[in-house]
Amino acid sequence: MVVRVATVAFEGIEARPVDVQVQIANGNVVFTVVGLGDKAVAESRERVRAALNASGLALPAKRITVNLAPADLPKEGSHYDLPIALGVMAAIGAIPPDALLNYTVLGELALDGTITAVAGVLPAAMAANSRGHGLICPHDSGAEAAWAGQDIDVLAPISLIQLVNHFKGTQVMARPRPAMRGEPAALLDLRDVKGQESAKRALEIAAAGGHNLLLNGPPGAGKSMLAARLPSILPPLSPRELLEVSLIHSVAGDLAGGALTDRRPFRAPHHSASMAALVGGGTRARPGEISLAHHGVLFLDELPEFQPQVLDSLRQPLETGEVSIARANHRIVYPARFQLVAAMNPCRCGHATAPGFACNRQPNARCIAQYQARLSGPLLDRIDLHVEAPAVTAADLMLPPPAEGSKEVGARVAAAREIQLRRYAGLGLPGVLSNAAAPSAVIEAAAQPDSSGLALVREASDRLHLSARGFHRVLKLARTIADLDGAEKVGSLHIAEALSYRVDVTRQARAA
Ligand SMILES: Nc1ncnc2c1ncn2[C@@H]1O[C@H](COP(=O)(O)OP(=O)(O)O)[C@@H](O)[C@H]1O
Ligand SMILES: [Mg+2]
Repeated sequence: MVVRVATVAFEGIEARPVDVQVQIANGNVVFTVVGLGDKAVAESRERVRAALNASGLALPAKRITVNLAPADLPKEGSHYDLPIALGVMAAIGAIPPDALLNYTVLGELALDGTITAVAGVLPAAMAANSRGHGLICPHDSGAEAAWAGQDIDVLAPISLIQLVNHFKGTQVMARPRPAMRGEPAALLDLRDVKGQESAKRALEIAAAGGHNLLLNGPPGAGKSMLAARLPSILPPLSPRELLEVSLIHSVAGDLAGGALTDRRPFRAPHHSASMAALVGGGTRARPGEISLAHHGVLFLDELPEFQPQVLDSLRQPLETGEVSIARANHRIVYPARFQLVAAMNPCRCGHATAPGFACNRQPNARCIAQYQARLSGPLLDRIDLHVEAPAVTAADLMLPPPAEGSKEVGARVAAAREIQLRRYAGLGLPGVLSNAAAPSAVIEAAAQPDSSGLALVREASDRLHLSARGFHRVLKLARTIADLDGAEKVGSLHIAEALSYRVDVTRQARAA
């Protein structure tokens, strides 16, 4: 007889159905697992054997064959332990044969028979729900599974024994409740930053339209400080974004305690990050920092210190909002619509732009050019706002705190985002949530520059040799500036401000 248990394999953030087939037959005493599993799947035999032993269930001295179907779909991870163990238990009659009929199962086993948390429970629960299945998952992942739907049946046992007792009816388990992460410690406030008014303005525009931003200035000017305060002015995730973000974090095993949060992700990987860490992949496919920053911010501090190839791998995701990773025999796609915020010093010593400073290695201009050459032109072309953050003087620091803090700026950002949501929903593009994410084809219609604005952008794009991408990016940025203004049409002032953030990009890209 063959027992079948439903489980899943992850392809990107999709959970594909997988059938665990268990057969116990006479013959040599062996326990084999087949079906294109990785090392973790092969080792699952030992964990299953030990966990069943610890639960008082000895494996029969027979030939046990486990097949993971479809056999051509690669299976990675440790979550096959539980479906395999339950399949074996049903085959030896430890649980009723029909108990598992309408369940999708995933979980890892410890040697003592307890069930440990695994990654990907949220997408698995959603896949189960859409097939009309309930879900059996580890206790610690129960809160996460409960998000998949109000009426999905979730069993989240601590151990194999607890699950057996549930099926026998001696100890019925309650359905876990969906959990929201409690209010984290207060966010850092923009009020702490003295001076730097133009950088603050740029930060506000970037937050309002989801635009990419590069802060350039000497060390100690407050660049890292400004970027760290961006989360305090970003609006919370909408329910739809929350779900997308949580799916990615679930697959990455990053949802602590299964609790979700509507805070926008803010990822700040160190400049030593490898390609796999940043864009995803590696021996076990896992979303990278750019996917974990989906619908949020990827902050790259000391931008030129990152490896050039790693930075250039961001070019395609910056354009398409997703990253596709080629594996040995298949390809996986993770969403990656992130906002890039970067900070850099103007040169290696950091002070080349300071008045009266003379670099003692070479002329200042060469020092700057050499350092900036680490950034490629196409990457810089994708950064809409390029802002200088000059050194702050002691006089600036002794000023009283600014009147405006994150609360006031955040309110303007939220109002501008609201306008954008309505605009793109009105244009039949409900998936587009910010000007930065708008397709180039609609931005000309959405921006509606008035005649003087149009003349300005035409002249400037000739003078600055804007690429087609640069042209559309200027329009998007100007649209955001007009939205912050509450203006229906983009005027020449909005275009002029947008262009002012672009001038440096053009100059720098030329040098690169
Ligand atoms: N504009 C500013 N207002 C108040 N404090 C500042 C400002 N700029 C820098 N500082 C102080 O200097 C420290 C270093 O700033 P940081 O943001 O790390 O500089 P950068 O990243 O530009 O090198 C901050 O922690 C803060 O104490
Ligand atoms: Mg810094």
